[in-house]
Amino acid sequence: MRVLGIETSCDETGVALFDTEQGLVAEALHSQVDLHAAYGGVVPEIASRDHIRCLLPLIRRVLEEAGIDRADAIAYTAGPGLVGALMVGGGLANGLALAWHCPLVKVHHMEGHLLAPMLESEPPEYPYIALLVSGGHTMLVSVRSLGDYTILGSTLDDAVGEAFDKTAKLLGLGYPGGPILARLAEEGDDQSYAFPRPMIHKPGMDFSFSGLKTAVMLEVRKAAENNGLEQVKADIAASFQRAAVDTLIARTLKAAKAEGATRIVIAGGVGANKLLRRDLALKFPGRVYYPRPELCTDNGAMIAVAGALRLAGAGEAGAIEAKARWSLDTLRPPEAA
Ligand code: KG4
Ligand code: ZN
Repeated sequence: MRVLGIETSCDETGVALFDTEQGLVAEALHSQVDLHAAYGGVVPEIASRDHIRCLLPLIRRVLEEAGIDRADAIAYTAGPGLVGALMVGGGLANGLALAWHCPLVKVHHMEGHLLAPMLESEPPEYPYIALLVSGGHTMLVSVRSLGDYTILGSTLDDAVGEAFDKTAKLLGLGYPGGPILARLAEEGDDQSYAFPRPMIHKPGMDFSFSGLKTAVMLEVRKAAENNGLEQVKADIAASFQRAAVDTLIARTLKAAKAEGATRIVIAGGVGANKLLRRDLALKFPGRVYYPRPELCTDNGAMIAVAGALRLAGAGEAGAIEAKARWSLDTLRPPEAA
């Protein structure tokens, strides 16, 4: 069974073909980063229009690469995300499912991230704890089996990816700042600023990143007033990254201990962060799974694999579904959905 995955929830147009026997067969991705860079963030209308421009050519390319002219099933991201952008993927997925008379699966974007490690050669077994960290979400999820999720903690304010992006903006590093800041941090001393590790000693498993962002802002301002920002940029970046990563790791280890977990999965765009991957693996006595970096950030392959795993709950073409908000813990296993 070959499942075509379509991802258009934000600023990447992602398409992939996942074969239930052979695994990932073909994939294509178009990033809109350059289009949004001038605005310092994603402009929803520009995102929708660019998905319209790119999606069909990317689907053609993936089918061609796989040497087929149709898939056996289609999976598309139905939310959460930008409604206009989601509508583009949902519209095309519905049209193709009608034309091909094939099943259609509506995928939750964060479940796609959660299941991305299933694309790797040694996928995790259930149950596991997932640290889902992206531009819009910071969550600890207890994953008992496909569709059986409990959110153990989430951010009370900014998502950690957002904190990376905003800090990068304060440092004048460009957009999207997470990966640029992480690269600059490698040249800095992460002990030079004692930034707060928010919530680290508080009960529960929630996160908060706005205090850290404010602490960075004050230091950036101080340095700029003394005309010394250029000299300390790398140190600020390194100290910020260290504080953010320490916070994520402390909360994740706490959750893993409380749940008696032996496996942790890191997923979502910030999951590409090298320091986070390395240090969590060093500190956790069990096994840490993370997808390769290009499968951490938004892509079509994670939607295709989630669709393949959820084929039992597939429907037919019909109304386009596009949900701006959609809580992960409302999902159910495919048979029960
Ligand atoms: O999952 P994703 O591609 O899109 C969303 O669903 O949000 O995540 C994008 C986020 C951005 O905030 C980006 O700056 C961050 O992931 N990111 C990183 C790294 N690579 C991407 N943050 C820290 N270190 C990285 N290496
Ligand atoms: Zn994402």
